[in-house]
Amino acid sequence: MTADVIGCCREIAFMSESADSITRTFLSPPMREVHRKLGEWMERLAMPVEVDAAGNLRGIYAGRQPNAPRLVIGSHVDTVPAAGAYDGVLGVVLALALVEELHGRRFAFGIEVVAFSEEEGVRFGVPFIGSRALAGTLDADLLSRRDVNGCTVAEAIRAFGLDPANAPDAELRGDILGYLEFHIEQGPELESLDLPVAVVEAIAGQSRLDFHFHGQSGHAGTTPMRLRRDALAGASEWVSAVERLALATPGLVATVGRIEARPGAGNVIAGEVRASLDVRHANDQIRRRALEEMTREAESSARKRSLTVNWDIRMDQSAVVCDQALTTQLARAVEKQGHHVHRMVSGAGHDAMVLARKIPVTMLFLRSPGGISHHPDESVRQEDVEAALGVGLAFLEELGK
Ligand code: HGY
Ligand code: MN
Ligand code: MN
Repeated sequence: MTADVIGCCREIAFMSESADSITRTFLSPPMREVHRKLGEWMERLAMPVEVDAAGNLRGIYAGRQPNAPRLVIGSHVDTVPAAGAYDGVLGVVLALALVEELHGRRFAFGIEVVAFSEEEGVRFGVPFIGSRALAGTLDADLLSRRDVNGCTVAEAIRAFGLDPANAPDAELRGDILGYLEFHIEQGPELESLDLPVAVVEAIAGQSRLDFHFHGQSGHAGTTPMRLRRDALAGASEWVSAVERLALATPGLVATVGRIEARPGAGNVIAGEVRASLDVRHANDQIRRRALEEMTREAESSARKRSLTVNWDIRMDQSAVVCDQALTTQLARAVEKQGHHVHRMVSGAGHDAMVLARKIPVTMLFLRSPGGISHHPDESVRQEDVEAALGVGLAFLEELGK
């Protein structure tokens, strides 16, 4: 079974918008192939399958009684551009492998497996579209967000053959025990400790913003330096200030991952720059204080060059503490499988942090070899997949007591 998990993730990796990289954004055509592959597996497991109005693929493995309480197990199947083969999708494939390992055994609870349609925020600049539908927070504002082509989330849903008006029906209903997400750690901690898995205690909060520096484009050869209003020079000074502030604040990470200068010609002074900012910390107060300092730095870099600068907060997601009782049961399952129980905070965001508003959540991390993720070289180890499956089975036993 575990060989299938890695094989299945590698097969799904080819379901991509790009021939030479793994890229799968919200409800793009390759998502249909992913739904077909995972839907067939769910049907083989006698799990009724549906795709909800947010494009989440969902299958329910029934408990012993009809309408039994449900444990939700899932993760996302969209990716960042030029991604690895395991971020997100591993959590869904592991969930189905876990159900398969039951060989028809039923518990007093059912298992709902969810493949979330969108968690990365690549297409619309706002993440968690899929899990927000289950949390009941997929609102009109999010449905009206536009991608670079001017297509709204609602239009993308309709183009996929779904009806955004049914988004409220996607909300989780009934008696839900909680949510378990298997996910790669995406960092170096487990590898440095030589551990296969970790129990996630909390997920760092994150802010995502778009900055817009506005100056004056001009001739690179004839415009004296002291007369310039160079938006790229101003943004560059700001990016260095962001890095300096993050290095000076323990536990804080800040990233300017995307920057676009216009008009973008080598012999033209950039009159306009748009840049992203991603700031994260386990403590919301520290994160928000750092963010205020970074916006002050942007204003200072702009003032020096007679630029204007403004910013749009795309997301402000508070840090989330995983449910103590569920996490204790998960830790017990790790121990029963003979592994050291390592507890850690996730620097990456996850669908669990959105569902935490509504139901108890917990996560199990698998080691990321080389700490590599959001990169084609992302990988998982066979023995860690086996360990995670074993922990998953022990966790179901714990819940079933
Ligand atoms: O960016 C993240 O935190 C995750 O990969 N969505
Ligand atoms: Mn990711
Ligand atoms: Mn992920």
